[in-house]
Amino acid sequence: MQGIKALIADDDESILWVLERFFEEKGIKALKASDGKTAGELLRSEAPSLAVIDINMPGGGGLELLKSAREEHGETYIIIMTAETTTKNALEAMKLGAFDYVTKPFDLGELEIIVEKAIENLKLKEKVSTLTGILREKLSAEAVFIGKSKAVQSVFKTVGKVAEKDVTVLVLGESGTGKELLARLIHANSLRAERPFVAINSAAIPRDLMESELFGFEKGAFTGAVEAKKGKFELADNGTLFMDEVGDMALDLQARLLRVIQEKEFYKVGGKEPVKVDVRIIAATNQDLDKAVSEKKFREDLLFRLNGVTITLPPLRDRKGDAALLSEYFLDKFANEFKVARKSLSQKALEAIDAYRWPGNVRELENTLRRAVLLSPSLNLSPDDLALPASRHKKESLEDIIAARLKPFIEKTDHKGKQDLYDFIMPFMERPLIRLVLEKTRGNQVQAAEVLGINRNTLRKKIKELNIQPGKFKE
Ligand SMILES: Nc1ncnc2c1ncn2[C@@H]1O[C@H](COP(=O)(O)OP(=O)(O)OP(=O)(O)O)[C@@H](O)[C@H]1O
Ligand SMILES: [Mg+2]
Repeated sequence: MQGIKALIADDDESILWVLERFFEEKGIKALKASDGKTAGELLRSEAPSLAVIDINMPGGGGLELLKSAREEHGETYIIIMTAETTTKNALEAMKLGAFDYVTKPFDLGELEIIVEKAIENLKLKEKVSTLTGILREKLSAEAVFIGKSKAVQSVFKTVGKVAEKDVTVLVLGESGTGKELLARLIHANSLRAERPFVAINSAAIPRDLMESELFGFEKGAFTGAVEAKKGKFELADNGTLFMDEVGDMALDLQARLLRVIQEKEFYKVGGKEPVKVDVRIIAATNQDLDKAVSEKKFREDLLFRLNGVTITLPPLRDRKGDAALLSEYFLDKFANEFKVARKSLSQKALEAIDAYRWPGNVRELENTLRRAVLLSPSLNLSPDDLALPASRHKKESLEDIIAARLKPFIEKTDHKGKQDLYDFIMPFMERPLIRLVLEKTRGNQVQAAEVLGINRNTLRKKIKELNIQPGKFKE
């Protein structure tokens, strides 16, 4: 690329060195700074097209530079490098108009994709949408969304980009993945944050009441309507309306909803005058809306209106590292809430949390830890204290685990000719099995045979064949 300059700013010499090579190879001239002050000066004097900036540096890190960069030299695409992976940094960087961010340690391939994307944008002379508005320092207390997994980080990026735009957001995800919390997070980071966030759940409200819940009614609209009442749409005016379980909405109501979205006005039940509203809608469902559309249970035109931006929350089991992080968060939270000692997780409990499938996702993890904090007598929680349901909810079956272990081995052996693989492998399966059971029964072969479900003589024979010393297990 001709004529493109990139600024790299980091107080870590080795990173400067690596990135300089990286840009040179692309024919991009690299300017270097190892503190915030120099970086700021270079941004001003050289106006580079691209800047890769560490979030933490002496003399002002990435976020401060981003703030001033947006005011003074908004043309630079800034990529933030961060070692921490908290919601806050990710969101702030994106809200301040960062082009993207990478978390350290990153691989160059990841950066390459981002840089390539930036160059592509430069070529198209498309301005990246710098997010306007003032950064609200504190996210509302109820909208702390914990997660450091790649999947959640990418959700944060999207939230950072769309929060302040009035676009309709559709949040998808299994039950308990945090759809409502995400809606609150978007609201708390939007320009409507000081205005109401109103939630309505289509699955929880009987069809007959839904209409008046949504749109309100005039006095005398029906028997019992002794006074006029505002509906959720009116209550959410200038704010955000969260439409939960939108997939459960009746078809005729879907038609009305579509009209309200299009016309930004509606009639109350029994009302003659249209009511004008300015409402941002965030909808959520755990249903497959495409399928619902094909089954004619959901209006396609409404779906198109709702999914301005779709954010899919992955199930907890697919968020690597998040269950542990969330556990610590919930242990803190419940210790504070119930004013009891802060409990911790034993290594084994952590492993159990990691191995469990979490069909109820974050809500199930939250409930599990609340229960353990309240009910378990121990301060250091064991797997038993967590009382997780039986092993059928384990992430992997025993077979999967063994297959995974066997695989690299099988891959290394020849695939042709006589290998006697079966005879070779089986003792490696049998020996640990028998050894572990003998360990449990403290070397008692009668018990071990029973547990294993094999004949005592067979066990004795195996012990000999496999060269196991049963005496070793006696205490
Ligand atoms: N990432 C997260 N960090 C902290 N708390 C979370 C997170 N995700 C979910 N929670 C908590 O888990 C619970 C369930 O979240 P939420 O109600 O948002 O899920 P949902 O997807 O709307 O579930 P459902 O589909 O059952 O309505 C809430 O108490 C919420 O605060
Ligand atoms: Mg919900």
